Amino acid sequence: MHTKPSDTVTAQQQNHRNLHNIAIIGCGYVGTALARYWYQQGHSVTATTTRQERVTELESDATQVVVMKGEDSQAVGSLMQNQDTVVLSIAPISDRQVDAEVYRETYIPTAKNLVAALQETPSVKQLFYLSSCSVYGNKKGEWVDETSPVDTNNEYNQVLGETEQLLLNSASKDVKICILRLGGIYGPKRELTKRFARIAGKTIPGSGQTFTSWIHLDDIIATVDFLAHRRLGGIYNLVNDFNLTIRELCDLVCDRQGLERIIWDDTKPSYRFLNARVSNQKIKAAGYSLIHPQTIV
Ligand SMILES: NC(=O)c1ccc[n+]([C@@H]2O[C@H](COP(=O)([O-])OP(=O)(O)OC[C@H]3O[C@@H](n4cnc5c(N)ncnc54)[C@H](OP(=O)(O)O)[C@@H]3O)[C@@H](O)[C@H]2O)c1
Repeated sequence: MHTKPSDTVTAQQQNHRNLHNIAIIGCGYVGTALARYWYQQGHSVTATTTRQERVTELESDATQVVVMKGEDSQAVGSLMQNQDTVVLSIAPISDRQVDAEVYRETYIPTAKNLVAALQETPSVKQLFYLSSCSVYGNKKGEWVDETSPVDTNNEYNQVLGETEQLLLNSASKDVKICILRLGGIYGPKRELTKRFARIAGKTIPGSGQTFTSWIHLDDIIATVDFLAHRRLGGIYNLVNDFNLTIRELCDLVCDRQGLERIIWDDTKPSYRFLNARVSNQKIKAAGYSLIHPQTIV
């Protein structure tokens, strides 16, 4: 464990904010941005990574950095001690799509360890799990909301759905469990323009007629903070207002960038798990306003 004094917390922040102890399990793209935001607000943030070589990079964004894996029950138990809020933001480590078994080995033991640790740690009042709206699977382009059934056919979605359910079962009047079903994440260094530029002019399997959902990094950070302030629990879809098929979105981005359009090969099956229009009404009805409802960057 690597700790340092929270010397960036000003006396004014201490006086005016209700400061919390927060652990963020999985400080990758989203987890690091969230750690940075809350650390700058003056909270005590424990950031985790699985890799020793990332500790120095994370030290500027957190009060302390812990190298651990969610599969390690002791590490999870000790991380949770004295925390008020815990965020689970893990994704299997790979630069390619991992197989479903690796997915299972990453998420399920971690969720079980969190559930066990929650029972031993009364200080924790809220747990966030960053899930995915791919859990809805192929709904043939129909609208889905948080009450729609999740996909139990696709092995990856089975894992995500089981993880959600394991964690939701731990909810009580004292512990809020908040599941955020995120669209594809974009933002600085993960721009849609760069992502689609890499495949401009290339042939992609599928018709491209599947609906796709996206959410900007800024909205993820702001929504977690919004729900944390209100101590809300439950499932929330977190997607922007695009409601476009992947083909429409790619055409839009390529046209704006002056790039060749992507060619869709509808003789081959799509690799995409999700084909649904995902409603974001619930989070809006809770009072959250999207920062980037339509931004394409
Ligand atoms: N990317 C998307 O478009 C997308 C879409 C929908 C939902 N989500 C969800 O959003 C969340 C954040 O995604 P992201 O893009 O920020 O992920 P990311 O950049 O890949 O970061 C994942 C983090 O999880 C850590 N990790 C991996 N395996 C672990 C394990 N077994 N135990 C503990 N930590 C582990 C990684 O550790 P290291 O620091 O060692 O790498 C890394 O810090 C994830 O829950 C993901 O499922 C993502």
